[in-house]
This record gives sequence, C-alpha cells and structure tokens, in this order.
Amino acid sequence: MLTKRPRGTSDILPGEVEKWQFIEKTMQDICREYNFKEIRTPIFEHTELFVRGVGEDTDVVDKEMYTFMDRGERSITLRPEGTAPVVRAYLENQMHTGPQPVKLYYTGPMFRYDRPQAGRYRQFHQLGVEVFGSQHPGVDAEVMAMAMNFFHRLGLKKMDLHINSVGCPRCRPRIRETLQNFFRPRLDELCPNCRGRFERNPLRIIDCKNDTCREVGKDAPTTLDCLCSECRKHFNEVCDYLQLLNVPYNVDNKLVRGLDYYTHTAFEIMAPDIGAQSSVGGGGRYNGLVEACGGPSLPGIGYALGIERIILAMEKQGVQVSSPPGPDVFVAVLDPQVKTKAFEILFGLRAKGIAVDQDYQNRSLKAQMKYASKTGARYTLFVGGDELQRGSAILREMATGNQEEVPLEKATEHIKQRLGE
Ligand code: HAM
Repeated sequence: MLTKRPRGTSDILPGEVEKWQFIEKTMQDICREYNFKEIRTPIFEHTELFVRGVGEDTDVVDKEMYTFMDRGERSITLRPEGTAPVVRAYLENQMHTGPQPVKLYYTGPMFRYDRPQAGRYRQFHQLGVEVFGSQHPGVDAEVMAMAMNFFHRLGLKKMDLHINSVGCPRCRPRIRETLQNFFRPRLDELCPNCRGRFERNPLRIIDCKNDTCREVGKDAPTTLDCLCSECRKHFNEVCDYLQLLNVPYNVDNKLVRGLDYYTHTAFEIMAPDIGAQSSVGGGGRYNGLVEACGGPSLPGIGYALGIERIILAMEKQGVQVSSPPGPDVFVAVLDPQVKTKAFEILFGLRAKGIAVDQDYQNRSLKAQMKYASKTGARYTLFVGGDELQRGSAILREMATGNQEEVPLEKATEHIKQRLGE
C-alpha cells in the first residue's frame, strides 16, 4: 500500500454509510417541514473570511485552520465551519435583498487541525442551519426545537439542551469589565493562553478547558449577571417560547461558545454518554456577523451538528440502522454459452427498476450460488440453454429454496409481484 489515510480522517464504508444516509435523509425531511432550503458552498474560501468572521482570537482560527497559498499566491483555507461561508454566499448572491427571513441548511465536511481522539477529527462533517434577517425570539426557540426534534426522530432520547445568553455589543463592555475585575487578582494562576485572553477577550477564559483555569473561574460572574435590559428580555422570551414548545432545556450560565461571532442566545446540545467530546451540536445568534462580513446590519442565528458525534451517540443509545439490502435478483448462468443472453436479461430487468447483479469471475455454478447468497440476493434467476429454448428461466427464492419456471416475457412483472409480496 502506497500510504495510509491522513491522521484524523476516516473512510466511511458500506455498512457504516447507511447510518450517514439515514441521518442526512432525516435532516432533509425536518428541513422541509421547517421550510429550510439547502445551500452548497465551496469547501475552501479566502482565509480572510474566517479570520474576520470567526475571529482571530479563537482556537479555530489561531491554531486549527488548514491554510495554504494557492498557485496564484492567494491565501486559501479549507472551511473549518459553515456559518461564515453561508453568510458570504447570502451576501454575494443578494439573498439579503429578498424577503426575510432566509432559512438555509447545509451538510458537508469541515476541517480543523486539532488533536484527534474519539469524537474529534481533522476532517469531520456537519449538518448546519442558518436563519437570516429576523430578531424574533421565536426563531431562536424554533431552531433549538428543530435540532431536538431531529435527534428525537433519529431515536436519540438522551440529549440535553444547554442555553445561555452571551450579550450584545451594548452589554459586552460591562461583561468584560466585570470579568477582568474578577480575574485580575488571580491572573498569574491562569494558563498562558488565558493570560493573553484577559485583555483581548476575557469571556473566553470561562471556556478554558485547563483544570486550574476552571478552578479559578468557578465562581466568576456570569454573562447573565451583566446583560442589558434588551438582552435579558430577549433571553426570557426565548425561554418562554421553549416552554411553549415543550422543549426541555437547562440554563447554563457558564456556556461560552468557541467562536467569536455569537451575540444573545448561545446553546449546545450534549449527549451525556459519549465521552469527553460530548457536545454533539452548538449554535446561537450572531447579530453582528453579516455586517462584519461587509453586509448591512442584519441578524442571524443557526447551529451545526457533528455527524460523527451523532453516530457515537446512536451507538451508545442503541439506535440501530438496518444494513443495506442485497440485490433483488442474482442472475446465474447454467452454461457458458448463454452468458450473452443472461447479460441481456440482466440489463432488461435493471431497466425496469429491479436491482440485479451477476458473476463476473467465471465462477462455477456452485460458486455462483455461494456468491449469490453472500450478496444477500432475494431471488436467483437461473438462465440455461434448455429453459431458454422454451423462452423461460428458473426463479428461486433464496430464503425458502422454492423454484418455479417463469416465461421470460413475463419475468419482470412476475418478479415485481414476488418482490412486493
Ligand atoms: P462548533 O461548536 O464549532 O460550531 O461545531 C459544531 C459541532 O461540530 C460540534 O458540536 C461538534 O459536534 C462538531 N465538531 C466540531 N469540531 C469537531 C471535530 N474536530 N471533530 C468532530 N466533530 C466536530 C460551529 O461550527 C458553528 N458554525 C455552528 C453554528 C452555526 N453557529 C451558528 N450557526
């Protein structure tokens, strides 16, 4: 073998891929019900989009981006997340000039140069939604309800929704000052990263995973203590809507998201039983991002769910996805002279929507039968010289071994009828 796949990536094989298809299909169904339309943006963007959109001070931009110069000397980055690209596409394609809100969803690979471990990869996949152009607190509740509804539809019962408000530019100076006052006397106990964050973005200290920083920050004032009256009102209304929709939630006043664009509502959805990387999804409002990306001042809110972590949660919570069905029919040839005719029959059946396969390795009849049952075929159609002369072939049901001679001109109808039984 020439080389192995890069660290932190995976091959999704048959047997596993059905879980992905089930997850993606469930998301498509939910999005249709909530009236979200799909958008597909490039896998790579100009680096500047993420630096300005996600924020220079975040781990994602600072340490985790796959950035390179292309042959035209442009700095290009493999997308580490989907929100900034969707904002760019929303603006670039003038979607902000039409009726609002605009409700979009996307799915696809994202790239972060992080230390791989269970539930954390360098290429991972997200399902995401974004809503532009509405401040309405009902929209915040709707997107959270939608995500919880999606998990429920997958069969995941143990999922916890944590919500917080991280304030707006009006309450940020107060949040910043209150946190700086709290951390200042214990600054030298913080990790070097957090000491850097103290001036630039003290809110991020609350989110640090370092044990000492956590201990120091245990009794830190929270964003909820410092909200302006408008943010508080918005947050209370979001909670009211969630109650109205019967969506259980926990207010987690320590919840600070790892990306800088959030304002007002921030939330995460945890699967309690999948280990250290328990956050299966997260999102929130970003009322300043459209403007930061060069557009008008328009609000936005969204979330993204990690497919790999959804699969871990499904495995932990015993959600089964049925394995792929084999072909409906396996065409076996009884003698080599009828091979061409068998090929014709096979293509004739496929053209009528029947799933058919055959042997391409010149196997003996016995080996063809063994292979047919390995493929999981429901029926085998034996094509032989004698039967062909009578214009027919033998159809065998694999599960029972029952056989019948079927006229070839009626074979399609006959097989379809049997398959429907
Ligand atoms: P995020 O919290 O960075 O948010 O990522 C969302 C989800 O992607 C996580 O909860 C996790 O399931 C998955 N994820 C993130 N990093 C990895 C990784 N290295 N390996 C496996 N899964 C991972 C965002 O990306 C925002 N764009 C979400 C958003 C949309 N906010 C507003 N709109």
